[in-house]
Amino acid sequence: MSDTAAVAATALYKRYGSVTALAGVELTVRRGELVGLIGPNGAGKTTLVKIACGLTRASAGTVTVCGHRAGTAPARAALGYLAELFRFPGWCTGAEVLALHQRLARSTGGASERDELLELVGLSDAGERRVETMSKGMQQRLGIAQALIGAPPLLLLDEPTSALDPAGRRAVRELLEELRTRGVAVLLNSHLLSEIELVCDRVVILSGGRVTAAGRPSELTRAGGIEVHTAAGLRRFPTATREDAPAIVASLVGEGQQIYEVRVVRSTLEDVYLEAVTPE
Ligand SMILES: Nc1ncnc2c1ncn2[C@@H]1O[C@H](COP(=O)(O)OP(=O)(O)O)[C@@H](O)[C@H]1O
Ligand SMILES: [Mg+2]
Repeated sequence: MSDTAAVAATALYKRYGSVTALAGVELTVRRGELVGLIGPNGAGKTTLVKIACGLTRASAGTVTVCGHRAGTAPARAALGYLAELFRFPGWCTGAEVLALHQRLARSTGGASERDELLELVGLSDAGERRVETMSKGMQQRLGIAQALIGAPPLLLLDEPTSALDPAGRRAVRELLEELRTRGVAVLLNSHLLSEIELVCDRVVILSGGRVTAAGRPSELTRAGGIEVHTAAGLRRFPTATREDAPAIVASLVGEGQQIYEVRVVRSTLEDVYLEAVTPE
């Protein structure tokens, strides 16, 4: 079944009474792919992830996880999930939290799985430490270790870095990069664009329950022309691309201009995001 997508959502709708949280979403996460689902609060990100987990039912449309209908036992077994606002009991140690979740997931990995996961998330020394003495970043990494119990091919992480300071975010980002080398597919909800831009293979922008933009970060950040600083001031060539730069420079030099700087302008993912979520 490895030719099936890790997640495939087709014509997905979700209504909560009069609120339409998802309005016809199409989304695919391929095996081993790291996809960022980004959008403002209320866009429907959590709803989509909860449907994939089987915690919420779709109003219409389908979601499959590794080829299995979302919510069925094989679909649930194929994924690891970390909720947006989770809290482990403060009096539990890191190893106890993992042991509890091993029982819930019916994992037979025992102490060796716990040790391996603690090491993977950089908490080797924290196995005997109580959750209440851990920083937010450590708890978040413990949460990701929990989601990895049983080595699922797919991780669903809801805002895994939003509550973290820059060092904590960086640690999670490095962990995601490690998971990519292991071939784990990840669907990551976030409103923090910098993280996504740095780590994701693809981003999907969700706004008002619809996908308004999707693609590789490098595809989404469009070229924004060329700027040339000359002795006479700044000259802009808004429709030019990088390939046009030599000809532009040659022609300006031909006119006798002195050139101090040439810059190929790219819009940032943030520009694209703001464009994609701004209401018409
Ligand atoms: N259980 C619920 N009951 C009613 N409305 C809900 C429920 N969960 C989410 N919503 C609404 O659905 C929309 C999408 O919410 P959510 O999926 O949490 O968005 P996001 O995670 O992108 O912030 C919002 O308008 C939210 O208020
Ligand atoms: Mg959310």
